[in-house]
Amino acid sequence: MSEKKLAGKVALITGGARGLGRGYALRLAGLGADIAIIDRNLKAADVYEFEREQLTAGTVMEECEALGVKAMGLEVDLTDRDAAERAVADIIAALGRVDIAVCNAGGGTVTFADERAPREGANDTEDLVTTGTPANTSEEMLTRVLDINVKTCMYACMAVAPYMKKQGGGKIVTVSSTAGVDAKGAYHPYGTAKAAIIHYTRALAQELGPDNINVNAIAPGIIRTGRLGDRAEMAKERVALQREGTIEDCAKVVEFLATDLSDYVTGRTIIIDGGMLR
Ligand SMILES: NC(=O)c1ccc[n+]([C@@H]2O[C@H](COP(=O)([O-])OP(=O)(O)OC[C@H]3O[C@@H](n4cnc5c(N)ncnc54)[C@H](O)[C@@H]3O)[C@@H](O)[C@H]2O)c1
Repeated sequence: MSEKKLAGKVALITGGARGLGRGYALRLAGLGADIAIIDRNLKAADVYEFEREQLTAGTVMEECEALGVKAMGLEVDLTDRDAAERAVADIIAALGRVDIAVCNAGGGTVTFADERAPREGANDTEDLVTTGTPANTSEEMLTRVLDINVKTCMYACMAVAPYMKKQGGGKIVTVSSTAGVDAKGAYHPYGTAKAAIIHYTRALAQELGPDNINVNAIAPGIIRTGRLGDRAEMAKERVALQREGTIEDCAKVVEFLATDLSDYVTGRTIIIDGGMLR
């Protein structure tokens, strides 16, 4: 089989300007796909040293181009449905099609340091914890976490679906979390948002199956990215494989779901947690 098995295809990665999304973009670019990144901050990698150090070019788009594919970036907040639709229309105008959508934008046990307008006298290089309890979560926090996870995912899926239908097929990968599968731990409302993504994935797979569009979710566990920092000690205690996951551990599963390897898999959630959930 050709190593460039995605040559001629176009992959959209939301939240691809750093972290896991960057890893998915590089992986799919390495397989020959042209790449479109939608992120509300295309320079998001600059916020965390861990991400900055990994960048091998000025932006993730330039890193993809260095792998020999076309790449474009759109700075868009995907909690706005119209903006999401306009962005996907721009991708079609520039790259001609969209075959793969990895709906990865999200997060939320902390708000991002780059999400807030700088406040006078405040140290805004720190993330803010956005975790409440199921019985007590502020409306502001609830709205924020549901919006950046559920809305960004649904709006991206809704925007690509008509084009994939016209093209006769496609692969959609949504991003949940072990927090969306397991109700243990202090992960509310993030876990609630990520559980909704699993439900949405199953429902969307039913609707789009007749159009030859596969829709599957991944649910990563403890994965080392800049935003969440070093959790090696926590992973040693909780994870059967006794280590944190890497971005590549997740990117390999995204490759499976974005290529013909998973042609008869749809509506499912693959947990990538090194055996953390029991
Ligand atoms: N890192 C982990 O351990 C882990 C575990 C489980 C699930 N996840 C999920 O994986 C995804 C990526 O996580 P990460 O650790 O790489 O996070 P990250 O913060 O490094 O990356 C998220 C990206 O999404 C972008 N983004 C956020 N809100 C957006 C919006 N409204 N519109 C457009 N772009 C937006 C951010 O700018 C950022 O570039 C998230 O959905 C997260 O919930 C991560």
